[in-house]
Amino acid sequence: VEKIRVALDERSYDIFIGEGNLKEIGGKLSEFGFSDKIALISNPTVYELYGETVSKALRDSGYDLAEVLIPDGEEYKSLDSAEEIYTSLLKAKLDRKSALIALGGGVIGDITGFAASTYMRGIDFIQIPTTLLAQVDSSVGGKTGVNHPLGKNMIGSFWQPRLVWIDTLTLNTLPRREFLSGLGEVIKYGVIWDRELFSYLDANRNKILELDAKALMHIIRRSCEIKAEIVSKDERESGLRAILNYGHTIGHAVETLTGYKKYLHGEAVAIGMCLEAELSSQLGFTGSNEPAMLKNLIDSFGLPSEMPSGIQTGELLLSMQIDKKTVGGKMHFVLPEKIGRVKVYSGTEPEDIRRLLE
Ligand SMILES: NC(=O)c1ccc[n+]([C@@H]2O[C@H](COP(=O)([O-])OP(=O)(O)OC[C@H]3O[C@@H](n4cnc5c(N)ncnc54)[C@H](O)[C@@H]3O)[C@@H](O)[C@H]2O)c1
Repeated sequence: VEKIRVALDERSYDIFIGEGNLKEIGGKLSEFGFSDKIALISNPTVYELYGETVSKALRDSGYDLAEVLIPDGEEYKSLDSAEEIYTSLLKAKLDRKSALIALGGGVIGDITGFAASTYMRGIDFIQIPTTLLAQVDSSVGGKTGVNHPLGKNMIGSFWQPRLVWIDTLTLNTLPRREFLSGLGEVIKYGVIWDRELFSYLDANRNKILELDAKALMHIIRRSCEIKAEIVSKDERESGLRAILNYGHTIGHAVETLTGYKKYLHGEAVAIGMCLEAELSSQLGFTGSNEPAMLKNLIDSFGLPSEMPSGIQTGELLLSMQIDKKTVGGKMHFVLPEKIGRVKVYSGTEPEDIRRLLE
């Protein structure tokens, strides 16, 4: 088992990454001094696969466990679902020393964190992420939230978990496309922070695609270390943390304009990363070699790298301008200077985007 510390003063916590360690969560939890009443939040898909193992581990350690299942799907990351969670917690009499356990992907993690941050003005929560995206990204860093009919992730809070417990074996049941989508975020860490990780992905492609235990452990550990380091330096995204949005300015717009149906999140980010690398080259911040290296890696993992046809420049610009990351009408882009280093640039003009798409 590998341990990574997210250093945030009194809100610091550990990420544990193991293989087959789901059943040990009960003993780990006993170290925290939570009250006996705790709740497991999951969805039917994940619960069917891992619910029994986790529930048994928790009950065997003496916890009185309430279970709340939210239907599977992004559309259930809503205030309505949060209210259902509150109702279950109140009925089960969870108190201020209780903890919520999120078992699932980013949807379950985000909504559980949000419910934990608001139930009785805030109780503790634990992340047990079961998708690659959740293991390398969403379970770490304390962004929680739900969607609003007018915008994704528009309602939320910063609320750090007390523990992140990763079992890489859960990836064995993850649909292939979801796994590859998670790899999009791993590639992102390579580009923004760590050229070695980028090279590792290239050199170990087959092992990663075969879910080789050592290779998975390496890329998940490195991703968590990088995210932990960035979040420790800038918890609330007043500066450095923004580099985690590389590929997301265009990626989000692509998701919005295709109605969140055509692409998974990491797929849209892969397209965004390729275009934003091209933009960087077009603006003279990097040569043409870096965008080509990135496109090759993304293509080799079977992720999309090109803007889908039919998206108009005007609607793309509009969509980027109403994004939560736009401040004062200025589009912020995270642009690679070389693999492993990026800068945040606010001077992009609509004309640059027009040229890029052409
Ligand atoms: N908080 C953050 O910092 C942050 C960062 C990135 C993304 N997110 C959010 O994360 C969400 C996306 O997360 P996601 O990609 O994990 O999607 P998800 O939670 O919808 O999971 C994807 C699918 O995989 C299934 N699944 C999960 N684990 C499985 C397993 N081990 N075996 C088989 N099936 C499994 C789920 O039931 C679901 O159908 C979005 O809502 C996004 O906004 C949050």
